[in-house]
Amino acid sequence: MNLKPDVDRLAETIEELGRFGALPGGGVTRQELTPEDAQAVAYLTGLMEGAGLTVRHDPAANLVGRRAGSLGDSAPAVLTGSHRDSGLQCGRYDGALGVLAAIEAVRLLDEKGVATAHPIEVIAFSGEEMSRFGVGTKGSRAIVGRLTPPAMRALVDANGVSYWEALAAAGCRPEELSSRLRTRDNTKCFVELHVEQGPVLEESGKTIGVVTALAGMTHLWTTISGAADHAGATPMHMRRDAFAAAAELALALEEEAVSQGKNAAVATVGDVRVQPGSTVIIPGHVEMSGDIRSTDETVKQRIVTRFRDACRSIGERRGVQVDCRTVIDEPALALSPQIRDAVEATCSQLGIPAMRMPSAANHDARHIAAVTEAGMIFVPSVNGISHAPDEYTTIEDACVGVEVLAHVLLHLAQEDT
Ligand code: GLV
Ligand code: MN
Ligand code: MN
Repeated sequence: MNLKPDVDRLAETIEELGRFGALPGGGVTRQELTPEDAQAVAYLTGLMEGAGLTVRHDPAANLVGRRAGSLGDSAPAVLTGSHRDSGLQCGRYDGALGVLAAIEAVRLLDEKGVATAHPIEVIAFSGEEMSRFGVGTKGSRAIVGRLTPPAMRALVDANGVSYWEALAAAGCRPEELSSRLRTRDNTKCFVELHVEQGPVLEESGKTIGVVTALAGMTHLWTTISGAADHAGATPMHMRRDAFAAAAELALALEEEAVSQGKNAAVATVGDVRVQPGSTVIIPGHVEMSGDIRSTDETVKQRIVTRFRDACRSIGERRGVQVDCRTVIDEPALALSPQIRDAVEATCSQLGIPAMRMPSAANHDARHIAAVTEAGMIFVPSVNGISHAPDEYTTIEDACVGVEVLAHVLLHLAQEDT
C-alpha cells in the first residue's frame, strides 16, 4: 500500500507549529503550560480534529487524539506521537516532528480508507523538556504513575508555581491521575518518531534509525558555598571563591567523561548560577547542573562516583562547602524487540536504508516502556544539531519517517500482532 505523505502538508504543519514560541533571533522556546504551549495545543487540536480524531486532555496535560478501531473502545490502543514542548532557545523538530508525523500518518490511513482492529491514539506529550520545573518527561512519567501528587507539588518553577498548580491552572485534573493511568490494558504499544539529534544517521548515509535502547542519564545539582568578599581588596591566598571551585569541578566532570574513551559517555554543565553575580564581588555561592549519560550503566555510575570524589577533594582544598544532589537517575533501557522488528521489516519491505542504534537522548518512550511495548524511529538531524535554533531535518527525510511510521502503525493495529 502506498502510504507516502503529502509533502507540502507536512512541511506546512512543521512551519505552523514552529511559530508558537518562535524567538525574534531564531529558535523556539515553548515551555510546558505557558501561553505558547496553549497556542500549540489549540493548533494541534484543530489538526487532530481535522484528521477525524476524537480529542481529549489527559490529567497530565498530554493531548490525545483517538481513531476508533473495529474491535471497539475496550481494545487497547496503539499509541504514537512525541512531545509538543521545546527547551530554551531550541529548534522546531525535537518532539514536534513526532507529533506531526503521527497526525500525518493517521491522515494517510484515513485517506486510503484503511480501518484497523485496534484504536490508534496520537499523543502530544506535555513537559518532556526539563527547563521549567527542573525535571523532564513529566507527561509520560505522570501518566504511567511514576509521579506522585506530593512529588508533583514539590516541583516548582522560577516563580514558585508548582507543577500541580500549573496543571490545574491549565484546566487539567491531576487528582484524577491515579484512576486514568496508561496500562497494558488500555495501551497495546507505543511508537515514537523523533529526530536523531546526533550525527550518526547522516554520517552512515541511512534514513531511518531503529532505536534499540535509551542511554542512561543522571542529573546532578551541585551547591558550592564559599565566602563573598571584595574582589579588589582580598588577596588571592585569602579567598574562598565558589565560582573558581565550580569551574574546577566542571572541568573535572568533563575530564571524567573524556577519560572513559571515545563515545563511551558524555557529561555537560549547562546551568550555572553565580551569587551575588557582581564584577566586584568574589562569588560566595554557586549552584550548577550536571548531566551525565552513557549507554553503559557502569560507565555512567563511575563518572558520578568520581565527580562526587572531586566535590570532596576540591571542596577541602579550596575551603568551600560542596553538596551534590542527584535529581534524576535513569538507567540505560532496552526498547521493545517487537517494535524494533516491525520497524526493520517495514524498512526492508520499502527498501529504505535503516540501521539499529541506541538513543543518546532521553525520551518519553522510557516511561511508556514501563507499561507496554515501546519503540522509536529516528530520522536524520542535519549536521547532527539539536537543542539549538539550527536544528533541522529535511522534508524528504521527515516524509520517509512518516511513511515508515504509517506502515508500522497499520501493522501493529491489526489483530494478533
Ligand atoms: C531531552 O530533551 C534530552 O535532554 O535528552
Ligand atoms: Mn529535547
Ligand atoms: Mn525530544
